[in-house]
Amino acid sequence: MQRLKGKSALITGAARGIGRAFAEAYVREGATVAIGDIDLARAEQAARAIGEKAYAVDLDVADQASIDGAIEAVVAKAGGLDILINNAALFDLAPIVEITRESYERLFSVNVSGALFTMQAAARQMIAQGRGGKIINMASQAGRRGEALVAVYCATKAAVISLTQSAGLNLIEHGINVNAIAPGVVEGEHWDHVDVLFAKYENRPQGEKKRLVSKAVPFGRLGTAEDLAGMAIFLASSEADYIVAQTYNVDGGNWMS
Ligand SMILES: NC(=O)c1ccc[n+]([C@@H]2O[C@H](COP(=O)([O-])OP(=O)(O)OC[C@H]3O[C@@H](n4cnc5c(N)ncnc54)[C@H](O)[C@@H]3O)[C@@H](O)[C@H]2O)c1
Repeated sequence: MQRLKGKSALITGAARGIGRAFAEAYVREGATVAIGDIDLARAEQAARAIGEKAYAVDLDVADQASIDGAIEAVVAKAGGLDILINNAALFDLAPIVEITRESYERLFSVNVSGALFTMQAAARQMIAQGRGGKIINMASQAGRRGEALVAVYCATKAAVISLTQSAGLNLIEHGINVNAIAPGVVEGEHWDHVDVLFAKYENRPQGEKKRLVSKAVPFGRLGTAEDLAGMAIFLASSEADYIVAQTYNVDGGNWMS
């Protein structure tokens, strides 16, 4: 099916992991996709592997000039912007008494300010075009709850859910739908890093945390990036026109809200 035929999309943090899988899925559905990432070499590699409808864009979502430059690059290359996925994010963990201001500020500047000001720049472009648009923010099950060692990341993802609600209500008058996806635990380099951090703080052998969280998923296994792609396509398509300010859990049954 070509549910995104002719659409121009920007996916942040798409050089690897979930964003990269979304880029592949969007190209299959007929979109032209900008792979925006702070790791430009890997973004270029991903674009080459996906094919001519994908291209790399240099983007640091924590830097306003970089955000503005990336939107300009997308408009210059694809003639406009119809879909944004705010996917770039950082993870860290520590007990409350060990959280550093540096880690807090880094995570908030990428996960929250990055999502908000990329959304703002995309919305300005979409409003100027006058044909609406779709914005999808990557939240997390971590944004639905607290976790003893994960206070800062959980707070950033709760903020993403909240921003999705407010921006959704504000931008729908321009025909721009803002919604979010809350994944559970997804196989990939991100969770390899999470597992290493849990091994350190919970004094476990590497791989054990991943095995435990995997066993606890009602579906019976960890998620894959491809498990999330259907929701990302749907929310970007015209079938989701009446969906506003929502966050959807795609997590094998881990969380209900
Ligand atoms: N993997 C999971 O289990 C999981 C679960 C819930 C939510 N999520 C969310 O899904 C999204 C994607 O996760 P993932 O597992 O693919 O992550 P990942 O860590 O594998 O990939 C993140 C990408 O973002 C890029 N990036 C980092 N900082 C950036 C910046 N300042 N500007 C631009 N790009 C930057 C990285 O280079 C990388 O390519 C994230 O928002 C994450 O929080 C992931």
